[in-house]
Amino acid sequence: MESKEKSRSEKIMDIVTKRGFIYPSSEIYGSKAGFWTYGSLGTKIKHKWENLWKSYFLSLNTNFYEIDDCSIMPKKVFESSGHLKNFTDPLTECEKCHFRFRADQLIEDELKIDVAGLKEDALTKLIRDNKLKCPKCKGNLIDVRFFNMMFDIKVGATGDDIMYLRPESAQSPYLAFKREFEATRRKLPLGLAVIGRVFRNEISPRQGFFRLREFIQAELQIFFDPEKINEHQNWNEVKDYSLIVFSDKKTRKLTCKEMKDKLKFPKFYIYHMAKVQQFYLDILKIPEKIFRFRELGPDERAFYNKIHFDVELNLETLGGFKEVAGCHYRTDHDLGGHQLGSGEKLEVTLDEEGKVKKFIPHVLELSFGTDRNIWALLDTFYKEEKERNLFTFPNNLTPLDVVVFPLVNKENIPEFAEKVFLELFKEGFTIFYDDSGSIGRRYRRQDEIGTKFCITVDFDSLKDNTVTVRDRDSMKQIRIKSGELKLKLNSLIKENKELSTFGNYI
Ligand code: GAP
Repeated sequence: MESKEKSRSEKIMDIVTKRGFIYPSSEIYGSKAGFWTYGSLGTKIKHKWENLWKSYFLSLNTNFYEIDDCSIMPKKVFESSGHLKNFTDPLTECEKCHFRFRADQLIEDELKIDVAGLKEDALTKLIRDNKLKCPKCKGNLIDVRFFNMMFDIKVGATGDDIMYLRPESAQSPYLAFKREFEATRRKLPLGLAVIGRVFRNEISPRQGFFRLREFIQAELQIFFDPEKINEHQNWNEVKDYSLIVFSDKKTRKLTCKEMKDKLKFPKFYIYHMAKVQQFYLDILKIPEKIFRFRELGPDERAFYNKIHFDVELNLETLGGFKEVAGCHYRTDHDLGGHQLGSGEKLEVTLDEEGKVKKFIPHVLELSFGTDRNIWALLDTFYKEEKERNLFTFPNNLTPLDVVVFPLVNKENIPEFAEKVFLELFKEGFTIFYDDSGSIGRRYRRQDEIGTKFCITVDFDSLKDNTVTVRDRDSMKQIRIKSGELKLKLNSLIKENKELSTFGNYI
Protein backbone atom coordinates (compact mmCIF):
# COMPACT_ATOMS: atom_id res chain seq x y z
CA MET A 1 0.00 0.00 0.00
CA GLU A 2 1.26 3.47 -0.90
CA SER A 3 1.95 5.56 2.20
CA LYS A 4 0.61 9.13 2.12
CA GLU A 5 3.31 11.84 2.16
CA LYS A 6 3.21 13.67 5.48
CA SER A 7 2.20 17.33 5.48
CA ARG A 8 4.72 20.02 6.48
CA SER A 9 2.81 20.46 9.72
CA GLU A 10 3.00 16.74 10.53
CA LYS A 11 6.71 16.65 9.73
CA ILE A 12 7.43 19.61 12.01
CA MET A 13 5.24 18.15 14.73
CA ASP A 14 7.09 14.80 14.49
CA ILE A 15 10.45 16.53 14.92
CA VAL A 16 9.48 18.90 17.70
CA THR A 17 7.73 16.27 19.81
CA LYS A 18 10.59 13.78 19.33
CA ARG A 19 13.32 16.31 20.07
CA GLY A 20 11.65 17.79 23.16
CA PHE A 21 10.40 21.18 22.01
CA ILE A 22 6.70 20.64 22.75
CA TYR A 23 4.40 17.68 23.35
CA PRO A 24 0.83 17.14 24.55
CA SER A 25 0.38 17.78 28.26
CA SER A 26 -0.48 14.77 30.50
CA GLU A 27 0.38 12.62 27.49
CA ILE A 28 0.69 9.29 29.32
CA TYR A 29 -2.95 9.59 30.40
CA GLY A 30 -4.18 10.56 26.95
CA SER A 31 -4.00 14.28 26.47
CA LYS A 32 -6.78 16.84 25.96
CA ALA A 33 -6.78 19.11 22.92
CA GLY A 34 -5.43 22.58 23.57
CA PHE A 35 -3.00 21.73 26.41
CA TRP A 36 0.73 21.42 25.73
CA THR A 37 4.02 20.98 27.58
CA TYR A 38 7.15 22.92 26.67
CA GLY A 39 10.00 20.42 26.82
CA SER A 40 13.64 21.21 27.56
CA LEU A 41 14.37 22.68 24.12
CA GLY A 42 10.98 24.35 23.77
CA THR A 43 11.50 26.10 27.10
CA LYS A 44 14.85 27.44 25.90
CA ILE A 45 13.44 28.91 22.68
CA LYS A 46 10.39 30.26 24.58
CA HIS A 47 12.67 32.03 27.09
CA LYS A 48 14.76 33.45 24.27
CA TRP A 49 11.64 34.79 22.51
CA GLU A 50 10.25 36.22 25.76
CA ASN A 51 13.57 37.83 26.69
CA LEU A 52 13.86 39.44 23.26
CA TRP A 53 10.25 40.66 23.57
CA LYS A 54 10.91 42.13 27.02
CA SER A 55 14.18 43.83 26.23
CA TYR A 56 12.76 45.28 22.99
CA PHE A 57 9.39 46.58 24.19
CA LEU A 58 10.46 47.70 27.67
CA SER A 59 13.21 49.79 26.13
CA LEU A 60 10.74 51.82 24.04
CA ASN A 61 10.23 54.19 26.98
CA THR A 62 12.00 54.63 30.33
CA ASN A 63 8.57 54.57 32.03
CA PHE A 64 7.73 51.02 30.83
CA TYR A 65 7.94 48.18 33.40
CA GLU A 66 7.12 44.51 33.84
CA ILE A 67 4.74 43.20 36.51
CA ASP A 68 3.57 39.68 37.38
CA ASP A 69 0.21 38.59 38.76
CA CYS A 70 -2.16 35.74 39.66
CA SER A 71 -4.18 33.94 37.01
CA ILE A 72 -7.26 33.50 39.22
CA MET A 73 -9.40 36.60 39.70
CA PRO A 74 -12.75 37.53 41.27
CA LYS A 75 -15.94 37.42 39.22
CA LYS A 76 -16.39 41.18 39.59
CA VAL A 77 -13.22 41.80 37.54
CA PHE A 78 -14.81 40.17 34.51
CA GLU A 79 -18.21 41.73 35.08
CA SER A 80 -16.51 45.12 34.92
CA SER A 81 -14.25 44.25 31.99
CA GLY A 82 -17.21 42.97 29.99
CA HIS A 83 -15.79 39.45 29.52
CA LEU A 84 -18.64 37.66 31.31
CA LYS A 85 -21.12 39.22 28.92
CA ASN A 86 -19.15 39.51 25.68
CA PHE A 87 -16.29 37.01 25.58
CA THR A 88 -18.13 34.44 23.51
CA ASP A 89 -17.78 32.27 20.43
CA PRO A 90 -20.62 30.87 18.31
CA LEU A 91 -21.36 27.24 19.08
CA THR A 92 -23.31 24.53 17.28
CA GLU A 93 -23.70 20.87 18.20
CA CYS A 94 -24.48 17.65 16.32
CA GLU A 95 -27.86 16.22 17.36
CA LYS A 96 -26.59 12.70 16.77
CA CYS A 97 -22.99 12.41 18.07
CA HIS A 98 -23.19 15.55 20.27
CA PHE A 99 -19.81 16.81 19.05
CA ARG A 100 -19.55 20.60 19.48
CA PHE A 101 -18.17 22.90 16.81
CA ARG A 102 -17.32 26.57 16.49
CA ALA A 103 -20.06 27.51 14.08
CA ASP A 104 -18.12 30.25 12.26
CA GLN A 105 -15.13 27.96 11.64
CA LEU A 106 -17.33 25.11 10.47
CA ILE A 107 -19.15 27.37 7.99
CA GLU A 108 -15.91 28.97 6.77
CA ASP A 109 -14.32 25.53 6.24
CA GLU A 110 -17.34 24.14 4.39
CA LEU A 111 -18.40 27.19 2.32
CA LYS A 112 -15.04 28.98 1.98
CA ILE A 113 -16.60 32.34 2.88
CA ASP A 114 -15.77 34.91 5.54
CA VAL A 115 -18.45 35.07 8.25
CA ALA A 116 -16.62 37.22 10.82
CA GLY A 117 -19.01 39.29 12.93
CA LEU A 118 -22.23 37.45 11.95
CA LYS A 119 -24.80 36.94 14.73
CA GLU A 120 -26.45 33.63 15.80
CA ASP A 121 -29.44 33.92 13.46
CA ALA A 122 -27.34 34.66 10.39
CA LEU A 123 -25.00 31.75 11.13
CA THR A 124 -27.93 29.37 11.71
CA LYS A 125 -29.47 30.50 8.41
CA LEU A 126 -26.23 29.74 6.56
CA ILE A 127 -26.19 26.24 8.08
CA ARG A 128 -29.83 25.63 7.09
CA ASP A 129 -29.68 27.23 3.60
CA ASN A 130 -26.57 25.26 2.68
CA LYS A 131 -27.76 22.04 4.36
CA LEU A 132 -24.52 21.79 6.36
CA LYS A 133 -24.19 18.61 8.44
CA CYS A 134 -21.90 17.38 11.21
CA PRO A 135 -18.45 16.84 9.59
CA LYS A 136 -17.94 13.79 11.83
CA CYS A 137 -21.16 11.75 11.44
CA LYS A 138 -23.35 13.74 9.03
CA GLY A 139 -25.97 14.31 11.76
CA ASN A 140 -28.08 17.48 11.89
CA LEU A 141 -26.66 20.59 13.57
CA ILE A 142 -28.60 22.54 16.21
CA ASP A 143 -29.21 26.31 16.08
CA VAL A 144 -26.16 28.45 16.80
CA ARG A 145 -25.84 30.07 20.22
CA PHE A 146 -23.08 32.04 21.87
CA PHE A 147 -20.83 30.23 24.35
CA ASN A 148 -18.76 32.04 27.01
CA MET A 149 -15.10 31.00 26.93
CA MET A 150 -14.26 31.79 30.56
CA PHE A 151 -13.21 28.98 32.91
CA ASP A 152 -14.77 29.29 36.37
CA ILE A 153 -13.38 27.56 39.45
CA LYS A 154 -14.56 26.99 43.00
CA VAL A 155 -12.27 28.52 45.61
CA GLY A 156 -12.18 27.59 49.31
CA ALA A 157 -13.57 24.69 51.33
CA THR A 158 -17.25 25.47 50.90
CA GLY A 159 -17.00 25.82 47.15
CA ASP A 160 -19.36 28.81 47.25
CA ASP A 161 -16.76 31.29 46.06
CA ILE A 162 -16.64 31.23 42.25
CA MET A 163 -13.59 32.84 40.69
CA TYR A 164 -12.34 32.90 37.09
CA LEU A 165 -9.11 32.06 35.30
CA ARG A 166 -8.02 35.19 33.42
CA PRO A 167 -8.67 34.93 29.67
CA GLU A 168 -6.11 37.68 28.90
CA SER A 169 -3.10 38.95 30.84
CA ALA A 170 -4.25 42.53 30.19
CA GLN A 171 -6.56 42.73 33.19
CA SER A 172 -3.58 42.56 35.61
CA PRO A 173 -2.10 45.93 34.62
CA TYR A 174 -5.57 47.54 34.71
CA LEU A 175 -6.08 46.30 38.27
CA ALA A 176 -2.53 47.35 39.23
CA PHE A 177 -2.70 50.74 37.50
CA LYS A 178 -3.54 52.85 40.55
CA ARG A 179 -0.64 51.48 42.63
CA GLU A 180 1.88 51.50 39.78
CA PHE A 181 1.00 55.04 38.72
CA GLU A 182 1.78 56.21 42.28
CA ALA A 183 4.85 54.00 42.70
CA THR A 184 6.40 55.15 39.43
CA ARG A 185 5.85 58.83 40.29
CA ARG A 186 2.71 59.74 38.37
CA LYS A 187 3.93 59.96 34.79
CA LEU A 188 2.25 59.14 31.48
CA PRO A 189 2.70 57.32 29.21
CA LEU A 190 3.10 54.45 31.65
CA GLY A 191 3.68 50.98 30.24
CA LEU A 192 2.95 47.82 32.22
CA ALA A 193 3.91 44.51 30.63
CA VAL A 194 2.95 41.00 31.68
CA ILE A 195 4.08 37.67 30.32
CA GLY A 196 1.80 35.04 31.76
CA ARG A 197 -0.56 32.12 31.33
CA VAL A 198 -4.15 32.70 30.29
CA PHE A 199 -7.09 30.33 29.85
CA ARG A 200 -9.89 30.09 27.31
CA ASN A 201 -12.42 27.31 27.00
CA GLU A 202 -12.05 27.16 23.20
CA ILE A 203 -14.90 25.17 21.67
CA SER A 204 -12.79 23.21 19.23
CA PRO A 205 -9.07 23.79 19.66
CA ARG A 206 -7.50 22.59 16.46
CA GLN A 207 -4.54 23.38 14.25
CA GLY A 208 -2.18 21.59 16.66
CA PHE A 209 -0.24 24.17 18.59
CA PHE A 210 -2.09 27.28 17.39
CA ARG A 211 -5.45 27.46 19.14
CA LEU A 212 -4.91 26.42 22.76
CA ARG A 213 -7.01 26.38 25.93
CA GLU A 214 -4.12 27.28 28.23
CA PHE A 215 -1.55 29.55 26.60
CA ILE A 216 0.90 32.35 27.25
CA GLN A 217 0.46 35.98 26.36
CA ALA A 218 3.10 38.71 26.28
CA GLU A 219 1.18 41.96 26.50
CA LEU A 220 2.15 45.58 27.03
CA GLN A 221 -0.54 47.99 28.22
CA ILE A 222 0.42 51.60 27.54
CA PHE A 223 -1.61 54.11 29.57
CA PHE A 224 -1.62 57.55 27.98
CA ASP A 225 -3.36 60.92 27.92
CA PRO A 226 -6.06 60.73 25.19
CA GLU A 227 -5.49 64.42 24.37
CA LYS A 228 -1.98 63.40 23.25
CA ILE A 229 -3.01 60.58 20.93
CA ASN A 230 -1.86 62.62 17.94
CA GLU A 231 1.68 63.00 19.16
CA HIS A 232 4.70 60.84 19.93
CA GLN A 233 8.08 62.21 21.00
CA ASN A 234 9.92 59.83 18.62
CA TRP A 235 7.60 60.29 15.64
CA ASN A 236 10.43 61.55 13.40
CA GLU A 237 12.21 58.21 13.87
CA VAL A 238 9.37 56.36 12.10
CA LYS A 239 7.56 58.88 9.91
CA ASP A 240 9.20 57.66 6.68
CA TYR A 241 9.18 54.01 7.70
CA SER A 242 6.86 51.84 5.56
CA LEU A 243 4.25 49.64 7.18
CA ILE A 244 2.98 46.54 5.38
CA VAL A 245 -0.78 46.83 5.51
CA PHE A 246 -3.47 44.56 4.09
CA SER A 247 -6.72 46.34 3.32
CA ASP A 248 -9.30 46.23 0.50
CA LYS A 249 -8.07 42.73 -0.35
CA LYS A 250 -4.57 43.90 -1.23
CA THR A 251 -1.28 44.41 0.54
CA ARG A 252 0.23 47.88 0.38
CA LYS A 253 3.27 49.59 1.80
CA LEU A 254 2.33 52.86 3.48
CA THR A 255 4.71 55.14 5.28
CA CYS A 256 3.75 56.09 8.82
CA LYS A 257 3.19 59.62 7.52
CA GLU A 258 0.74 58.30 4.90
CA MET A 259 -1.08 56.29 7.58
CA LYS A 260 -1.52 59.56 9.46
CA ASP A 261 -2.27 61.98 6.60
CA LYS A 262 -4.30 59.76 4.26
CA LEU A 263 -5.88 57.19 6.56
CA LYS A 264 -6.14 59.49 9.60
CA PHE A 265 -4.79 57.09 12.20
CA PRO A 266 -3.29 58.76 15.29
CA LYS A 267 0.49 59.17 15.60
CA PHE A 268 0.69 57.43 18.97
CA TYR A 269 -0.93 54.32 17.49
CA ILE A 270 1.08 54.33 14.24
CA TYR A 271 4.39 54.74 16.08
CA HIS A 272 3.75 51.55 17.99
CA MET A 273 2.69 49.69 14.84
CA ALA A 274 6.09 50.57 13.39
CA LYS A 275 7.83 49.26 16.49
CA VAL A 276 5.85 46.00 16.32
CA GLN A 277 6.75 45.52 12.65
CA GLN A 278 10.43 46.26 13.39
CA PHE A 279 10.34 43.64 16.17
CA TYR A 280 9.21 41.01 13.67
CA LEU A 281 11.46 41.99 10.78
CA ASP A 282 14.64 43.18 12.52
CA ILE A 283 14.73 41.21 15.77
CA LEU A 284 12.98 37.93 14.91
CA LYS A 285 14.20 38.07 11.27
CA ILE A 286 10.78 37.19 9.91
CA PRO A 287 10.91 37.59 6.09
CA GLU A 288 9.06 40.72 4.99
CA LYS A 289 7.01 38.80 2.43
CA ILE A 290 5.19 36.76 5.08
CA PHE A 291 4.36 39.73 7.34
CA ARG A 292 1.35 42.03 7.26
CA PHE A 293 -0.95 44.12 9.42
CA ARG A 294 -4.65 43.52 8.82
CA GLU A 295 -7.23 46.02 10.00
CA LEU A 296 -10.30 44.54 11.66
CA GLY A 297 -13.59 46.28 10.94
CA PRO A 298 -16.24 47.15 13.55
CA ASP A 299 -17.90 43.69 13.25
CA GLU A 300 -14.67 41.77 13.67
CA ARG A 301 -12.96 43.76 16.43
CA ALA A 302 -12.81 42.60 20.03
CA PHE A 303 -15.59 44.29 22.04
CA TYR A 304 -13.13 46.59 23.83
CA ASN A 305 -11.28 47.95 20.77
CA LYS A 306 -11.72 51.17 18.83
CA ILE A 307 -8.77 50.63 16.46
CA HIS A 308 -7.59 47.08 15.88
CA PHE A 309 -4.88 45.80 13.55
CA ASP A 310 -3.77 42.20 13.82
CA VAL A 311 -0.27 41.10 12.94
CA GLU A 312 -0.58 38.18 10.55
CA LEU A 313 2.13 35.86 9.26
CA ASN A 314 1.77 33.67 6.21
CA LEU A 315 2.35 30.21 7.64
CA GLU A 316 2.56 27.30 5.25
CA THR A 317 1.53 24.80 7.95
CA LEU A 318 -1.72 26.68 8.49
CA GLY A 319 -2.48 27.45 4.87
CA GLY A 320 -2.17 31.23 4.80
CA PHE A 321 -1.98 34.40 6.87
CA LYS A 322 -2.76 33.80 10.56
CA GLU A 323 -2.96 36.15 13.56
CA VAL A 324 0.00 36.09 15.95
CA ALA A 325 -0.35 39.50 17.64
CA GLY A 326 -2.44 42.65 17.71
CA CYS A 327 -2.29 46.42 18.28
CA HIS A 328 -5.43 47.40 20.18
CA TYR A 329 -6.63 50.89 21.03
CA ARG A 330 -8.86 50.02 24.02
CA THR A 331 -9.75 53.64 24.95
CA ASP A 332 -10.83 53.98 28.62
CA HIS A 333 -13.00 50.86 28.31
CA ASP A 334 -11.11 48.93 30.98
CA LEU A 335 -10.08 51.57 33.51
CA GLY A 336 -13.52 53.15 33.15
CA GLY A 337 -15.21 49.78 33.72
CA HIS A 338 -13.09 48.98 36.75
CA GLN A 339 -13.61 52.45 38.24
CA LEU A 340 -17.35 51.92 37.99
CA GLY A 341 -17.27 48.30 39.21
CA SER A 342 -14.85 48.72 42.13
CA GLY A 343 -15.76 52.21 43.27
CA GLU A 344 -12.00 53.06 43.30
CA LYS A 345 -11.00 56.28 41.55
CA LEU A 346 -8.80 55.31 38.62
CA GLU A 347 -8.70 58.74 37.01
CA VAL A 348 -5.47 60.70 37.31
CA THR A 349 -4.84 64.35 38.10
CA LEU A 350 -1.91 65.92 36.29
CA ASP A 351 -0.54 69.40 36.61
CA GLU A 352 0.96 70.38 33.26
CA GLU A 353 2.62 73.78 33.46
CA GLY A 354 -0.07 75.15 35.72
CA LYS A 355 -2.95 73.49 33.83
CA VAL A 356 -4.60 70.87 36.06
CA LYS A 357 -6.21 67.98 34.18
CA LYS A 358 -8.32 65.12 35.53
CA PHE A 359 -9.03 62.16 33.27
CA ILE A 360 -9.12 58.40 32.92
CA PRO A 361 -6.05 57.36 30.90
CA HIS A 362 -6.62 55.54 27.64
CA VAL A 363 -4.85 52.30 26.79
CA LEU A 364 -2.94 51.15 23.75
CA GLU A 365 -2.31 47.43 24.02
CA LEU A 366 0.40 45.49 22.16
CA SER A 367 -0.69 41.89 22.52
CA PHE A 368 1.23 38.76 21.49
CA GLY A 369 0.56 35.05 21.90
CA THR A 370 3.90 33.49 22.87
CA ASP A 371 2.92 29.98 21.75
CA ARG A 372 1.64 31.12 18.36
CA ASN A 373 4.85 33.04 17.84
CA ILE A 374 6.87 29.94 18.71
CA TRP A 375 4.88 27.89 16.18
CA ALA A 376 5.40 30.66 13.62
CA LEU A 377 9.18 30.42 14.17
CA LEU A 378 9.08 26.65 13.70
CA ASP A 379 7.07 27.01 10.51
CA THR A 380 9.12 29.89 9.11
CA PHE A 381 12.57 28.48 9.75
CA TYR A 382 11.93 24.80 8.91
CA LYS A 383 13.79 23.67 5.77
CA GLU A 384 14.02 20.39 3.96
CA GLU A 385 17.20 19.56 2.08
CA LYS A 386 18.18 16.41 0.18
CA GLU A 387 19.89 14.73 3.11
CA ARG A 388 18.53 16.53 6.13
CA ASN A 389 15.76 18.55 7.75
CA LEU A 390 16.75 21.60 9.73
CA PHE A 391 15.62 24.73 11.51
CA THR A 392 17.56 27.82 10.38
CA PHE A 393 16.65 29.92 13.43
CA PRO A 394 18.46 33.26 13.76
CA ASN A 395 21.28 33.13 16.32
CA ASN A 396 19.26 34.98 18.99
CA LEU A 397 16.54 32.28 18.90
CA THR A 398 18.34 28.95 18.54
CA PRO A 399 17.43 26.60 21.42
CA LEU A 400 21.10 25.54 21.50
CA ASP A 401 24.00 27.78 20.53
CA VAL A 402 26.56 25.00 20.56
CA VAL A 403 26.89 21.26 20.98
CA VAL A 404 30.09 19.40 21.79
CA PHE A 405 30.88 15.93 20.37
CA PRO A 406 33.74 13.62 21.27
CA LEU A 407 34.61 11.87 17.98
CA VAL A 408 34.99 8.56 19.84
CA ASN A 409 34.51 7.56 23.44
CA LYS A 410 38.11 6.50 24.06
CA GLU A 411 41.75 7.60 24.26
CA ASN A 412 41.29 10.81 26.30
CA ILE A 413 38.96 12.30 23.71
CA PRO A 414 35.89 12.33 26.06
CA GLU A 415 37.95 14.01 28.82
CA PHE A 416 39.07 16.73 26.40
CA ALA A 417 35.52 17.17 25.05
CA GLU A 418 34.01 17.40 28.55
CA LYS A 419 36.51 20.09 29.48
CA VAL A 420 35.59 22.13 26.39
CA PHE A 421 31.89 21.58 27.16
CA LEU A 422 32.16 22.70 30.80
CA GLU A 423 34.12 25.82 29.96
CA LEU A 424 31.52 26.91 27.41
CA PHE A 425 28.66 25.90 29.73
CA LYS A 426 30.09 28.15 32.47
CA GLU A 427 30.43 30.97 29.96
CA GLY A 428 26.61 30.94 29.58
CA PHE A 429 26.19 29.43 26.11
CA THR A 430 23.08 27.27 25.68
CA ILE A 431 24.92 24.05 25.11
CA PHE A 432 24.59 20.24 25.02
CA TYR A 433 27.03 17.31 25.12
CA ASP A 434 26.24 14.47 22.72
CA ASP A 435 28.39 11.33 22.63
CA SER A 436 26.00 8.78 21.16
CA GLY A 437 25.78 7.52 17.58
CA SER A 438 27.93 8.24 14.54
CA ILE A 439 29.10 11.81 13.91
CA GLY A 440 26.86 11.97 10.83
CA ARG A 441 23.79 11.07 12.90
CA ARG A 442 24.76 13.54 15.59
CA TYR A 443 25.01 16.33 13.00
CA ARG A 444 21.54 15.42 11.62
CA ARG A 445 20.10 15.48 15.14
CA GLN A 446 21.50 18.93 15.82
CA ASP A 447 20.31 20.22 12.43
CA GLU A 448 16.79 19.11 13.40
CA ILE A 449 17.14 21.10 16.63
CA GLY A 450 18.54 24.13 14.84
CA THR A 451 21.82 24.18 16.81
CA LYS A 452 24.03 26.75 15.17
CA PHE A 453 27.51 25.32 15.84
CA CYS A 454 28.78 21.76 16.42
CA ILE A 455 32.22 21.36 17.97
CA THR A 456 34.01 18.03 17.49
CA VAL A 457 36.98 16.91 19.53
CA ASP A 458 39.07 14.44 17.47
CA PHE A 459 42.54 12.84 17.48
CA ASP A 460 44.17 16.04 16.17
CA SER A 461 42.74 17.90 19.18
CA LEU A 462 44.98 15.82 21.44
CA LYS A 463 48.01 16.83 19.36
CA ASP A 464 47.47 20.53 18.66
CA ASN A 465 44.62 21.64 20.98
CA THR A 466 42.34 22.51 18.07
CA VAL A 467 38.73 21.40 17.55
CA THR A 468 36.49 21.51 14.49
CA VAL A 469 33.61 23.99 14.46
CA ARG A 470 30.82 23.29 11.96
CA ASP A 471 28.22 25.83 10.88
CA ARG A 472 24.64 24.54 10.65
CA ASP A 473 23.59 26.31 7.46
CA SER A 474 26.63 25.87 5.21
CA MET A 475 27.80 22.62 6.89
CA LYS A 476 31.33 24.02 6.43
CA GLN A 477 33.98 23.54 9.11
CA ILE A 478 37.12 25.25 10.38
CA ARG A 479 39.59 24.38 13.12
CA ILE A 480 39.88 26.68 16.14
CA LYS A 481 42.24 26.49 19.15
CA SER A 482 40.16 25.27 22.07
CA GLY A 483 41.41 28.16 24.23
CA GLU A 484 40.00 30.68 21.72
CA LEU A 485 36.52 29.13 21.53
CA LYS A 486 34.81 31.41 24.06
CA LEU A 487 35.88 34.61 22.37
CA LYS A 488 35.30 33.43 18.82
CA LEU A 489 31.93 31.76 19.48
CA ASN A 490 30.71 34.92 21.21
CA SER A 491 31.65 36.89 18.15
CA LEU A 492 30.15 34.34 15.73
CA ILE A 493 26.87 34.19 17.63
CA LYS A 494 26.36 37.74 18.88
CA GLU A 495 27.83 39.57 15.89
CA ASN A 496 26.55 37.06 13.31
CA LYS A 497 30.07 36.69 11.89
CA GLU A 498 30.84 34.17 9.15
CA LEU A 499 32.81 31.11 10.26
CA SER A 500 35.48 31.91 7.64
CA THR A 501 36.37 35.08 9.64
CA PHE A 502 38.33 32.80 11.95
CA GLY A 503 39.99 30.30 9.59
CA ASN A 504 40.02 28.43 6.31
CA TYR A 505 37.36 25.86 5.57
CA ILE A 506 38.59 22.28 5.81
N1 GAP B 1 -5.55 41.26 25.55
C1 GAP B 1 -6.02 41.20 24.21
C2 GAP B 1 -6.26 39.86 23.74
O1 GAP B 1 -6.26 38.90 24.50
P1 GAP B 1 -6.67 38.45 21.59
O2 GAP B 1 -6.64 38.85 20.14
O3 GAP B 1 -7.84 37.71 22.10
O4 GAP B 1 -6.45 39.79 22.40
C3 GAP B 1 -4.09 38.17 21.75
O5 GAP B 1 -5.37 37.62 21.91
C4 GAP B 1 -3.13 37.15 21.17
O6 GAP B 1 -3.17 35.96 21.96
C5 GAP B 1 -3.49 36.70 19.75
O7 GAP B 1 -2.96 37.57 18.78
C6 GAP B 1 -2.85 35.33 19.70
O8 GAP B 1 -1.49 35.45 19.38
C7 GAP B 1 -2.98 34.83 21.13
N2 GAP B 1 -4.14 33.91 21.26
C8 GAP B 1 -5.44 34.22 21.33
N3 GAP B 1 -6.20 33.12 21.47
C9 GAP B 1 -5.35 32.08 21.49
C10 GAP B 1 -5.51 30.66 21.62
N4 GAP B 1 -6.70 30.10 21.79
N5 GAP B 1 -4.40 29.89 21.58
C11 GAP B 1 -3.16 30.44 21.44
N6 GAP B 1 -2.96 31.76 21.33
C12 GAP B 1 -4.03 32.57 21.34
